[in-house]
Amino acid sequence: KPVILSGIQPSGQLALGNYVGALKNWVELQHQYDCVFLVVDLHALTVKQVPAELRNRCLSFAAQYIACGIDPEASTIVLQSHVPQHAELAWVLGTMTYMGELSRMTQFKDKSARHEDNINSGLFTYPVLMAADILIYQANLVPVGADQKQHLELARDVAQRFNQRYSETFVTPDIFVPKVGARIMALQEPTKKMSKSDPNPDNYIAVLDTPDVIRRKFKRAVTDSETEIRYDVENKPGVSNLLTIHAALTNQPVEAVAAHFAGKGYGDLKSEVADVVVATLEPFQKRYQEVMADKAGLEQILARGAEKARARAWKTLSKVYKKIGLVPAA
Ligand code: TYM
Repeated sequence: KPVILSGIQPSGQLALGNYVGALKNWVELQHQYDCVFLVVDLHALTVKQVPAELRNRCLSFAAQYIACGIDPEASTIVLQSHVPQHAELAWVLGTMTYMGELSRMTQFKDKSARHEDNINSGLFTYPVLMAADILIYQANLVPVGADQKQHLELARDVAQRFNQRYSETFVTPDIFVPKVGARIMALQEPTKKMSKSDPNPDNYIAVLDTPDVIRRKFKRAVTDSETEIRYDVENKPGVSNLLTIHAALTNQPVEAVAAHFAGKGYGDLKSEVADVVVATLEPFQKRYQEVMADKAGLEQILARGAEKARARAWKTLSKVYKKIGLVPAA
């Protein structure tokens, strides 16, 4: 089976954008591929974290993967820090990644503008660790939202650079971006993307938001001063975002959803989208409670995942060390 690798940073709260852009597609692809899904806790360290909160959030995110439909029997669920080879390969790849390449990363530019007091070197080399995550499992496909495209291109470039400099070692991974919902926008500011760590919680729907909160957030969602419901990202970003969320969750083309709302009002659109989101997330929330109630079971899943992942990761890393000229440890 071809290999899938993807991951989510345990920062803020797992959000609807993460579900639509990434998790939903992981669930749909998991039986056709050999999948490794990471909670990228080391990446989360690039912004300041409260240790006790981070610890809980890592477990909570893993539980939410399962609650949203990742089958721990079929897929490998791993906390990134449980597999030390990621950081080790990142060091090697970092020696083959140019400052200029990393300086061009738009996510670094955005994040360093937002966290001016903490522009650390980890934030800068973040895409190198991401490349290591992907390449260490020889992933063929990486299902992500549109915002990760640039990082994935870097991972491909670094893989090819290594292969050319030494010899064929890494698979060059392809990106998988969903047709609908690759970029879900913030509910209050629909020209910027929905982010799980947005300081304004009205901007995102958390996977664990209660139905009341979800309905209230959609009721307040920013639209525009017209009344017509149509898909027009340029002129009607708020309405288009609501149509996109509906289309992604009901597996329809956006045009079909827009046609369904023709002649209806914004109030109808908001309440129906809220219904669709509640209907999607409510079963996840029930399942989440069950998964979290069995903490030993969850820890066992992660222990098993880590063990499998370490063996696979070491296979690639030992090959890399050998090819670049390091002496194997006796
Ligand atoms: P992160 O944690 O920011 O986001 C996790 C996933 O959710 C997608 N996503 C979105 N999709 C649609 N609309 C949105 N508004 C939205 N916001 C986020 C992201 O594209 C991503 O797929 N660098 C990665 C984590 C990572 C990773 C990896 C991903 C680390 N190593 C290896 C893939 C493979 C990140 O910060 O994602």
